[in-house]
Amino acid sequence: GIDLSQIFFKPTQNTSTPSPTNGHTKISVIGTGNVGMAIAQTILTQDLADELALVDAKPDKLRGEMLDLQHAAAFLPRTRILASTDYSATVGSDLCIVTAGARQIPGESRLNLLQRNVEMFQGIIPPLSRCSPDTILMIVSNPVDVLTYVAWKLSGFPSNRVIGSGTNLDSSRFRFLIADHLDVNAQDVQGVFKVEEVHNKWQELSKEAYIVGEHGDSSVALWSSISVGGVPVLSFLKKQQIPYEKEALEKIHKAVVESADEVISLKGYTSWAIGYSAANLARSILRDQRKIHPVSVLANGFYGIGDGDVFLSLPALLGRGGVLGVTNVHLTDEEAERLRDSARTISEVQSQLGL
Ligand code: NAD
Ligand code: LAC
Repeated sequence: GIDLSQIFFKPTQNTSTPSPTNGHTKISVIGTGNVGMAIAQTILTQDLADELALVDAKPDKLRGEMLDLQHAAAFLPRTRILASTDYSATVGSDLCIVTAGARQIPGESRLNLLQRNVEMFQGIIPPLSRCSPDTILMIVSNPVDVLTYVAWKLSGFPSNRVIGSGTNLDSSRFRFLIADHLDVNAQDVQGVFKVEEVHNKWQELSKEAYIVGEHGDSSVALWSSISVGGVPVLSFLKKQQIPYEKEALEKIHKAVVESADEVISLKGYTSWAIGYSAANLARSILRDQRKIHPVSVLANGFYGIGDGDVFLSLPALLGRGGVLGVTNVHLTDEEAERLRDSARTISEVQSQLGL
């Protein structure tokens, strides 16, 4: 037979699967600003929840947003929508998505938001996890990787139930930019499907066109994995002896990194893309799709990432139990080194927290 056990790293902690939802799915969204509301409306239009609870610190804004969504009832699948400044509204959630927090002004790094948002998380995560002890936490607030670590610490949950939205969004931006460059559909920009037998072991699996590492300035583009319409781009160019400049590739990655800042300087914030990204993750988790997404997970021990606890994005298998595994994809030496650098960047910021 074929031993596929090499495909996934083993999860770092026990992946106890939360109890089934008995056909009733409840999602809570904490923070009803631009991002929380984009996520909420995507969840409603995609029919992902039977019940949607909204929590924010501003009662009038919260009630206004709740009523505005409820007034769309005639045009949407039936979802019970409730809102409160009190966490009791979130009791029994299957998934809690945290978007509360300060956001960047143009030119500001995500990491700069840390202190303000950690203080906020100290007031949010403990009551949220007490009200839904079996929930899966999805963190979106920035800096998302460090705040996912903070949420993991404050919740006391096993790491498989604490996920950061991470580079699922950056990977979509990456696919969009490559597709735009080549004038093809972004959904046709994919990973190279490859399972290889090396020394009698099956060592590689398909990859998506991924950005991994920090959701931020030190993210890493996995160029070696990219295929368009099933054709592996870099090896195709090399085989056909078509010249390409490394700078052209680096320019595309740079554009991914600068995407958020460009949108923020134009409209003040980003919202629609993260709305779809979070809903895409919610679907894979709640419908037990067992799809692989680049999301922020507890990463130490994988790809030679050092001893300290650090969350960053790696291709992770998502299902009803949260993170079910991390894919053991082949990285070039350069990609692996960049990934470890990204982990060091996050660890350094984290070490100032004293958590
Ligand atoms: P926003 O200012 O529009 O909304 C933030 C909301 O949080 C406000 O409604 C505010 O009242 C609420 N809030 C503040 N303190 C709270 C508390 N203690 N409890 C509950 N609610 C509280 O900001 P936004 O544009 O929606 O961005 C929210 C966060 O999401 C930012 O940190 C931003 O950087 C981040 N973000 C992350 C991604 C990603 O890909 N991870 C993408 C976009 C934005
Ligand atoms: C984004 C946010 C700002 O849209 O992190 O990438």
